[in-house]
Amino acid sequence: MSYEANPTRYEQMTYRRCGKSGIKLPAISLGLWHNFGGVDVFENYRAILRTAFDNGITHFDLANNYGPPPGSAEENFGLILKKDFTQYRDELIISSKAGYLMWPGPYGEWGSKKYLVASLDQSLKRMGLDYVDIFYHHRPDPDTPLEETMSALDLIVRQGKALYVGISNYQAEDAAKAIAILKQLGTPCLIHQPKYSMFERWVEGGLLDVLGENGVGCIPFSPLAQGLLTDKYLKGIPVDSRAAKTHGHLQENQVSESVIAKIHQLNDLALERSQTLAQMALSWLLKDYRVTSVLIGASRVSQLEDSLRCLHNLDFTHNELQKIESILNG
Ligand SMILES: NC(=O)c1ccc[n+]([C@@H]2O[C@H](COP(=O)([O-])OP(=O)(O)OC[C@H]3O[C@@H](n4cnc5c(N)ncnc54)[C@H](OP(=O)(O)O)[C@@H]3O)[C@@H](O)[C@H]2O)c1
Repeated sequence: MSYEANPTRYEQMTYRRCGKSGIKLPAISLGLWHNFGGVDVFENYRAILRTAFDNGITHFDLANNYGPPPGSAEENFGLILKKDFTQYRDELIISSKAGYLMWPGPYGEWGSKKYLVASLDQSLKRMGLDYVDIFYHHRPDPDTPLEETMSALDLIVRQGKALYVGISNYQAEDAAKAIAILKQLGTPCLIHQPKYSMFERWVEGGLLDVLGENGVGCIPFSPLAQGLLTDKYLKGIPVDSRAAKTHGHLQENQVSESVIAKIHQLNDLALERSQTLAQMALSWLLKDYRVTSVLIGASRVSQLEDSLRCLHNLDFTHNELQKIESILNG
């Protein structure tokens, strides 16, 4: 059946300015790391993408290696773009990245100009796009000079293959250096994509300050700690969960007794707030104005719908925030 987007989609979502740029992102963005690969079910992920857009999610996040197999998420996304979203291209912010291993030999990973330019060309072909809206360097490279990696990002923008650039997984000090180099080159860094959730808080130790001071947006990935910060693991590990899948990046041993104990307490607090735990975990990140958008994953439409409802309650009392701290530090 041909797809017509929900005409009221922009009334459902809040949009937040990305640092000091011209771009606004939806408070919730959707990532295609898991659940959109060659191993997944076409009609399921197609329904997730349609539901996302129908609810005002305009930003979809990919990378060269998403799958499995690597590259298949971009191929599948390209297919759905063609079938369902061709007329909506100008309403979408599509991102991709390069940094992790993509092909054999010395030019298939890390941060050389050779790798980044070739990888983006491959991504554009897989998705059937002329350009991506945001292109990221996916992880810092300890061996390539930062100037080379950043000048590759600048080149890509000048070639018209990306409109904006970002960095991901850079610690505060390296992020500050990268941001300064990009500024000097005339291609400002739009956004940083770090891992950030109630369970993973390293960004609070300096990175958020660097981004705030420099007017760079922040889009935390794995805001639900890959599903741990939901009610799904309260009664063990469901067979269809990421922790149970052989290709999932959440390991069974990460669902430990001490983690489960914290999830129970957080879940109780979420219920007191009339939210699900997933909703509370997302609201908790969005309370910081420096967080532009939270980058969630979903394996089914119902999860996406659950997470979207976090927007109905973004406020926390001082008491609630203290309770969360004492649970997390307990
Ligand atoms: N830059 C980087 O290095 C990097 C690294 C990782 C991810 N990312 C980006 O971040 C995106 C999100 O990462 P993520 O998938 O780990 O995010 P996440 O939102 O922390 O976890 C998503 C998973 O949690 C479960 N889930 C989601 N909503 C739920 C709900 N309402 N109730 C119960 N369970 C729920 C599902 O797992 P089940 O499959 O168990 O149902 C879902 O696949 C990725 O797609 C990617 O775009 C970037």
